[in-house]
Amino acid sequence: MQSLEKLRERLKVAFNVVVLTGAGISAASGVPTFRGKDGLWNKFKPQELANVDAFLKNPELVWEWYRWRRKIIKNVKPNLGHYALVEMAAYFPDFSIITQNVDNLHKIAGTKKITELHGNIMTNKCIDCTYEGDESEHPNADDAGQKVPRCPQCGGMLRPGVVWFGEMLPQKAIAEAQLKSSEAEVLFSIGTSSTVEPAASLPYLAKGNGAYIIEINPDETPLSAIADQRFPVGAHEVLPKLALLIGKIRNKHH
Ligand code: OAD
Repeated sequence: MQSLEKLRERLKVAFNVVVLTGAGISAASGVPTFRGKDGLWNKFKPQELANVDAFLKNPELVWEWYRWRRKIIKNVKPNLGHYALVEMAAYFPDFSIITQNVDNLHKIAGTKKITELHGNIMTNKCIDCTYEGDESEHPNADDAGQKVPRCPQCGGMLRPGVVWFGEMLPQKAIAEAQLKSSEAEVLFSIGTSSTVEPAASLPYLAKGNGAYIIEINPDETPLSAIADQRFPVGAHEVLPKLALLIGKIRNKHH
């Protein structure tokens, strides 16, 4: 059987679908990816910016970097890939998006249910107490003069609500992601280099439980070898076509 036929067949009957996204899905919106030729980690060092020690040593520098990224993210819009996933969700009884992205673009596109594995850049949390809040609640966290914003509850330093290297992922998020992946009949891996754990293991968990794996990425990744179907193109190019196809083949279910 041609693999595209197999793909149609799996998509036609699937009840549980999981979508794992990474920086590549937002690339067409103008959000820089981490790896690859224009990746952020070619220009900046993760060890100087995205970990707790770096923050404690130089919180101003780390805040400067996050303000810069927030500014980029505030000025971009979701692309056709994000919107196509909102459309696709309507065709399956159980459709989950799990993202490594912190850029909020799935939610802005209209995705209601999402598991954010690495947090959300538009949030802050206190390093000393349990305070967590939206960045818009604290204008002092942005360009209003204060270099390191302070916690409204205890006065401690606020940090961006994202996961840094060496930190645990939010427990509820990773538990949810693992459960969903183990139940998935089809798993899409979209725009991720499949190199950062524990997210990188989710497709293997799905595959081990019989899921059909679809990878959308112009470049090959460590996952490519076990993918049942690869689309070596941009997510914004192929996802609208897939949404259309899924709409056609699942019409009678709705
Ligand atoms: P990466 O930057 O590692 O990988 C992005 C992937 O997207 C690459 O494999 C590209 O080939 C692919 N890509 C580029 N343009 C694309 C497009 N238009 N459509 C589809 N794919 C495209 O990003 P992630 O895998 O998300 O963690 O990185 C994982 C984590 O590493 C991030 O969440 C971040 C980073 O350190 C934290 O900050 C905790």
